[in-house]
Amino acid sequence: MSATDGITLDDYIRNIPDFPKPGIQFKDITPLLSHPEAFRAAVERLAAPFADRGVDAIAAAEARGFLFAAPMAMTLGVGLVPIRKPGKLPFTTVSAEYALEYGNDRLEMHSDALEPGRRILVVDDVLATGGTMKACCDLVRNAGAEVVACAFLIELGFLKGREKLEPYEVFSLLSY
Ligand code: PRP
Ligand code: MG
Repeated sequence: MSATDGITLDDYIRNIPDFPKPGIQFKDITPLLSHPEAFRAAVERLAAPFADRGVDAIAAAEARGFLFAAPMAMTLGVGLVPIRKPGKLPFTTVSAEYALEYGNDRLEMHSDALEPGRRILVVDDVLATGGTMKACCDLVRNAGAEVVACAFLIELGFLKGREKLEPYEVFSLLSY
């Protein structure tokens, strides 16, 4: 029994119609972040399935991925590897491209961030098309490390991001 057992995470996700553009319903996580018990429950429930999976480190993409990855790393007692938008990391980087609605974008990771064979849990707030997470997994794999699983607070099932991430294990707490 944990103090957060009674928390329903969905109660802390706010729907914002027509953001960032007409027809899109945005899942706003700020209510969850502002309620300490709900935030704690989310972090505990995201981390718990991986406590005995031999995870060596968590990797996550800025910005919203960091919000969950950092407390999860503390919970699991492992380090955190930041994956960032281009030009933000100071040391030598490796990069992976991913598709946006119009054109491509890129994510970067320090070239010495992961040793070959390390077992990595990759974390983000939302799985939409899967492009961001696929790029993160490409960075992990290209470094010779292993993706244990991809973990998300929210999965937007209708966008089929899970298919893009095959054959990686995908875990999400909330599906819409
Ligand atoms: C959002 C979200 C995920 C990604 C999901 O990040 O935080 O990282 O989109 O979309 P996808 O599955 O289609 O790739 P965004 O790029 O908006 O940036 P942010 O985290 O810096 O807000
Ligand atoms: Mg993001």
